[in-house]
Amino acid sequence: MAQTHSNDAFVAFERVQKSYDGETLVVKDLNLSLPKGEFLTMLGPSGSGKTTCLMMLAGFETATYGEIKLDGKPINNIPPHKRGIGMVFQNYALFPHMTVAENLAFPLEVRKLGKSEREAKVKRALDMVQMGAFGGRRPAQLSGGQQQRIALARALVFEPELVLMDEPLGALDKQLREHMQFEITRIAHDLGITTVYVTHDQTEALTMSDRVAVFNDGRIQQLAPPDELYEAPQNSFVAQFIGENNTLDGTVQEIRDGYAIVKLDSGETIDCKPVNVSKPGERTLVSIRPERVEIDKSRLHPDAHTLQAEVLEFVYMGDIFRTRLRVAGREDFVIKTRNAPDQRRLKPGEMIEIGWLADDCRALDA
Ligand SMILES: Nc1ncnc2c1ncn2[C@@H]1O[C@H](COP(=O)(O)OP(=O)(O)OP(=O)(O)O)[C@@H](O)[C@H]1O
Ligand SMILES: [Mg+2]
Repeated sequence: MAQTHSNDAFVAFERVQKSYDGETLVVKDLNLSLPKGEFLTMLGPSGSGKTTCLMMLAGFETATYGEIKLDGKPINNIPPHKRGIGMVFQNYALFPHMTVAENLAFPLEVRKLGKSEREAKVKRALDMVQMGAFGGRRPAQLSGGQQQRIALARALVFEPELVLMDEPLGALDKQLREHMQFEITRIAHDLGITTVYVTHDQTEALTMSDRVAVFNDGRIQQLAPPDELYEAPQNSFVAQFIGENNTLDGTVQEIRDGYAIVKLDSGETIDCKPVNVSKPGERTLVSIRPERVEIDKSRLHPDAHTLQAEVLEFVYMGDIFRTRLRVAGREDFVIKTRNAPDQRRLKPGEMIEIGWLADDCRALDA
């Protein structure tokens, strides 16, 4: 078949549903398409359906409804050895009776590569995960993090077109984890590999991905590039799941000039950007990022609404200061300020006035 439609989706989930027991849907109406070469991360709480989606894409589980396509063809019609998919499972799944080097050579043997080419590729893959000296060991003789790195090397060793990775770095310490995050994205981009990556770790998702799909309860809540996800969450779940976030409960009083005036349950009034509220009387959860709260009134719009706050706790974190406040009846309101020479170090007990740009304060679903 001629490859005329280069913009077509390389991977596509079309109205996919999955039930294991014939009663409850663990994946509900999933629509998702990836162009070739994209690095997409599925991020979401435990049990939200991420592994199930990967398993269906790899062909280990079948969709109860809908279709999954690889390069325009339904996945079920492509024989496993022609799928060209590298996979890192959540539980590593290395072959226990084979050495590390044999584990890595296996996908190359299946693809009928010659011995010298196999050896060169295995060596390169082991070096990539800093495991060059471990080729002769068996998986049982490795630590969890070492096994995880071998699983990663095995998924990449045959330079697949599509790689699926399910929490591939969960067992690694912070430094190695950050190194591997960098290596994985570098390799994926250099080789033009399309990647579907699963993680619980939002920082990992934000730093590695072209786009992130936030899962909850079997549905994609938002699919967007990292900056958009963080700065423009479409609903309360995403706002609270991604990054640190302050929330205040209230009711929309008025929508005027594109902004919502919200009356907080504690009685104060604030200005917000209406995201998924549209009329007076609607309940809303207002969301504001800690770094967007202003404590210097001179930097605010002259008629911006402000709130009184009492400083409860000041934490010095090196590059930033993290201050917890009592605001609008809540004691978990956090602000972050940059550690600059002229920055105020607030003291517990101090009363201050806080505010923000209405564009930074999002009125979301309650
Ligand atoms: N083989 C199975 N049989 C029955 N139910 C299953 C099976 N595999 C998963 N489930 C259920 O499907 C739901 C989604 O599971 P899944 O493994 O896809 O979640 P996940 O998002 O990968 O979670 P985690 O982050 O904990 O790995 C869960 O409620 C889980 O209990
Ligand atoms: Mg999982």
